[in-house]
Amino acid sequence: MTIQALLSSRHSVREFLPNPVSPELLKNIFQHAQQSASNCNVQPWQTFVVSGKTRKDLEHALMTKLMTDPTPAPEFDWTPRYQDKHRDRQFGSANALYSAMGITRDDKKARQMAMGRNWQFFGAPHAVFFCMEKYLGIMGAVDVGIYAQNLSLLLAEAGISSCMQGALGQFPAEVKKALNIPQSMGILFGMSFGYVKPDAAANNARTERVELKDSVLFFN
Ligand SMILES: Cc1cc2nc3c(=O)[nH]c(=O)nc-3n(C[C@H](O)[C@H](O)[C@H](O)COP(=O)(O)O)c2cc1C
Repeated sequence: MTIQALLSSRHSVREFLPNPVSPELLKNIFQHAQQSASNCNVQPWQTFVVSGKTRKDLEHALMTKLMTDPTPAPEFDWTPRYQDKHRDRQFGSANALYSAMGITRDDKKARQMAMGRNWQFFGAPHAVFFCMEKYLGIMGAVDVGIYAQNLSLLLAEAGISSCMQGALGQFPAEVKKALNIPQSMGILFGMSFGYVKPDAAANNARTERVELKDSVLFFN
């Protein structure tokens, strides 16, 4: 598949089959993602992939946290109040998801339940946590974002779906304890991935993009 075809067909997937990806294929995909460009080639990404029992135990820890003390504690600034057109687009994306799932605007409980699926990794057999040393700040975050996008395209090329998740950086203490992540390092965000569950309503959600002229200006 060309990159154009991959980008045209990709979308976030939020329900997965339980079937794991073979360890050889996983290694191969992560190996290729290592080729990502980064500022001064510092390669700041430190990536933690969870599967099997580790993933299951972590889901349990995160859901316990969610049910007992759901105050988010992200290690990086993850709380912009979107304004104006950004806010409209934020609503548009939430609306696309909840409409696909048949959840109405005032059904708070159903929205919370759908939100909670984030910390169950949407049923995916694997999740990856994108981390970096905290001192790197925005420069490192740019590199890690590029790495994460490359990874998701490599996965898509192999027929593996994914969903990036800021939600997976909201309760870092549980994740860091489970994966022995040092305190000098922070979790930027995560991504669940695996094979798409085709008949799930959440996976029918499609978002829109603004016109090219509203995002890109060409100068001669
Ligand atoms: C950095 C980042 C964080 C995201 N966090 C979440 C999240 O926590 N939960 C979720 O369901 N989707 C999350 N998404 C997915 C976006 O909502 C999605 O990419 C956007 O609405 C566009 O839809 P599409 O990916 O289907 O094209 C995130 C995406 C990115 C790039």
